[in-house]
Amino acid sequence: MTVTLDRTALTRNVHLTFRANMGVGRHGWLRLTPAYGVRLVRERLEILEPGSVVTDPFSGTGTTPLAAAELGHIGQSVDVNPFLIWLGTVKTARYSNAILSATADTARAVLSDVRHYEQDNDLWQPNLFKIDKWWSPGALHALKALRHSIDDKSGQVRDLLEIALCRSLISCSNAAFNHQSMSFKDVSGESVLFDIDDTERAFERFESEVAMLIDSAQYDLLGSASVYEGDSRSGVESLKPADLVLTSPPYVNRMSYIRELRPYMYWLRYLDQASDAGDLDWRAIGGTWGTATSKLNSWVPETETPVDEPMAAVCELIRRDGGKNGPLLATYVHKYHHDMWQHFQAITPQVKAGGRVSYIIGNSTFYKHEVPAHEWYAAMLRALDYRDVTIRVIRKRNSNKALFEYEVSGQKV
Ligand SMILES: C[S@@+](CC[C@H](N)C(=O)[O-])C[C@H]1O[C@@H](n2cnc3c(N)ncnc32)[C@H](O)[C@@H]1O
Repeated sequence: MTVTLDRTALTRNVHLTFRANMGVGRHGWLRLTPAYGVRLVRERLEILEPGSVVTDPFSGTGTTPLAAAELGHIGQSVDVNPFLIWLGTVKTARYSNAILSATADTARAVLSDVRHYEQDNDLWQPNLFKIDKWWSPGALHALKALRHSIDDKSGQVRDLLEIALCRSLISCSNAAFNHQSMSFKDVSGESVLFDIDDTERAFERFESEVAMLIDSAQYDLLGSASVYEGDSRSGVESLKPADLVLTSPPYVNRMSYIRELRPYMYWLRYLDQASDAGDLDWRAIGGTWGTATSKLNSWVPETETPVDEPMAAVCELIRRDGGKNGPLLATYVHKYHHDMWQHFQAITPQVKAGGRVSYIIGNSTFYKHEVPAHEWYAAMLRALDYRDVTIRVIRKRNSNKALFEYEVSGQKV
C-alpha cells in the first residue's frame, strides 16, 4: 500500500480542522469538534467546474454543502441527526434584507421582554443531566428567559435567534468545549447564588451574537445547497449523481456526536430523554453512547466485507489485550467497517462515471493495535472498481505519534 507523506503533514495542521472554521462567516456559526476545516474543503472544490454537484453523505455542521454553495456549486448532504439537518439547512439558506431587519427588530423585542422576567419564574428548562453543572443560576435564568421569549417566533427569524441562543449557551457555560470530551470548570466550593451579572452578561452575549449572525447571513450564496435527513448506508438513492463526494465520516474512535451536541439538542428540544440519545447514537455509524453500547453486545453482521480478513486479525488482538472491554471493542471495530462497506456500496451508484470520491479519515489505536481505517477504506473502494485509489496524509492528529488524518480518494470508472 503506497501512502504519500507531505513533510508539512507531519506537523499539526490546525488550519485543516474546525478551528479554522471559527470566524469565517457562516462556517463559524456552531462548532462540532470533529468538523473538518473549510480551507481543505475549498481547496478541493475550487478546481471543479462551476455548477458541479458535490455530495457529503456525512454532513455534520454542513461545511461541505455551504462551501459548495459559496463557490457556485450544487451542494447536497445527508445526516442521521435531525439537529444537524436543521443546522445545515439554516447555515445554507438565503436571507432577504427584510428577514434580516425583522431579526434585528425581534431580537430587540426579545431582549426587552426577558429583562422583565422574575428570577423565580417557572419557565421551561431542558431535561439535561446535572444542568446546574453547566450554568450558574443567573446564566440559566437568562437562557430560560430567552428560550421562552423565542418560542412564539417563527420562520427564518426564529432560526437565526435559535442559533444565537446556541452560541450564547456555550459562551456562558461552565463547560469547556475545546476538546472532544467536554470538561467542566471546578465550581465546587464556590458560591452558586443567583448573580444578576451572570444574567445580564448572557443577555449581552445574545445581543452581540445576533449582530454577528445578521452580518454573516447577508452574504449571498452563488450556488445552492440542500441538507437531507437520511442514513448514508441506504438512504441516498434520491441524491443527484455527484461530480465529487467529499466527506469526513465518523472516525473509529468511539466519539459520540450526540454526546458532543447534547447542550444544543436539549435546548432546541431535539432531545428530552437520555434513552433517546442512545437510540439516535445507535443509528449513527460508530455510535456507542448509552444504550448503543449494550446493543453492540448482541450485534451480528448482515454481510461480509472485502476487509474481513485483515480486520479479523486486528480484532483478535484487541479482544486478546482489551481485558473485559476487548470483545465489545472488537465488535465495535467490526461493525464500524461493516457499516462503512454498506455506505460505499450505497453511494457508488450516486457518483457520475468519471466522478471522484474523497474521504477524510483518521486511523486509531486500541490497546496499541492500529486500526488502519484509511487502508481498509482504500481496499473497499478498490473492491468497487474505483481507479487510482490513493491515500495521502493530511496531518498528524495529536501528540500520539501513531495517529494521522488521511485523505482516501479515487475515481469512478
Ligand atoms: C465527522 S462528522 C462530519 C463533520 C463534517 N464534515 C463537518 O465539517 O461538520 C460525521 C457525521 O456523520 C453523521 N453520521 C453518522 N452516521 C451516519 C449515517 N449512517 N448516515 C448519515 N450520517 C451519519 C454524524 O451524525 C456526524 O454528523
